[in-house]
Amino acid sequence: MPDFTGKHGLIVGVANKRSISWAIAQAAAAAGARLALTYPSERLEENVRELGATLENPLILPCDVGSDPQIEALGPALDREFGGLDFLLHGAAFAPPAELSNPFVQTSREGFRIALDVSAYSLVALTRVAAPLMEKRGGGSVLTLTYLGSQRVFTNYNVMGVAKAALEASVRYLASDLGAKNIRVNAISAGPIKTLAAAGISGFSNILQVYRDRAPLRRNVELAEVADAAMFLLGSGSRAVTGEILLVDAGYHVTGI
Ligand SMILES: NC(=O)c1ccc[n+]([C@@H]2O[C@H](COP(=O)([O-])OP(=O)(O)OC[C@H]3O[C@@H](n4cnc5c(N)ncnc54)[C@H](O)[C@@H]3O)[C@@H](O)[C@H]2O)c1
Repeated sequence: MPDFTGKHGLIVGVANKRSISWAIAQAAAAAGARLALTYPSERLEENVRELGATLENPLILPCDVGSDPQIEALGPALDREFGGLDFLLHGAAFAPPAELSNPFVQTSREGFRIALDVSAYSLVALTRVAAPLMEKRGGGSVLTLTYLGSQRVFTNYNVMGVAKAALEASVRYLASDLGAKNIRVNAISAGPIKTLAAAGISGFSNILQVYRDRAPLRRNVELAEVADAAMFLLGSGSRAVTGEILLVDAGYHVTGI
């Protein structure tokens, strides 16, 4: 386990105890990091505050990633409290429910806009705020969460697959922009895990079953396994890795027929 003592991280995307971002937050905190967690709305504030209360001296901040003012307000708040930033985990994604059950060809302009804005553009906007804080530390690590639906068709994943393709391309462009400042930008492409976001995808339990049947490891992945890979990408063990999409999916992506 890498040592994160003295490191400060911003975690965006905790909704409840099953959130992938929460598993990563717990791993980072256990390794010694001090964390800021965000909540997107009053509805989720209490959940995030309750989970945050189990961490050592957390900073809890509002951030709907669809709002530029809320994203921009994170910078001064983090600077005041942490005096810089070592890592950013981006785990926010959303598409209107109808877009995840109707045929893809029915995708509405507004559904497309919201999915791409919340799930992909937000990485760019958050990284822009994090970068000057990371520069103060001589560099940093940005990590986002994606899915293989960016490359292949999964029933009902629809516009979220398009958003994940944009997210992965954004990882590469951000990595290129910020590499000279020793800021690395990577993604984990996780296998399916039953979370709040996953519950919004019609037929998700079928995807879980197909992975169990066909992935080389013949099983699904666990939250702790994604968190372990995240610790590698957030920590110094991956200091020469950037622009990378790391598949943590029990090997499912290599399968053909
Ligand atoms: N669960 C899976 O099978 C799986 C697989 C691969 C990738 N992912 C990705 O992992 C990430 C985390 O998802 P999860 O599965 O842990 O589910 P989750 O529902 O726990 O997390 C999604 C998060 O996005 C946040 N969010 C949505 N709209 C937002 C907004 N406007 N502003 C700020 N935050 C907003 C939610 O509050 C929630 O915390 C997502 O990017 C998801 O696409 C999930």
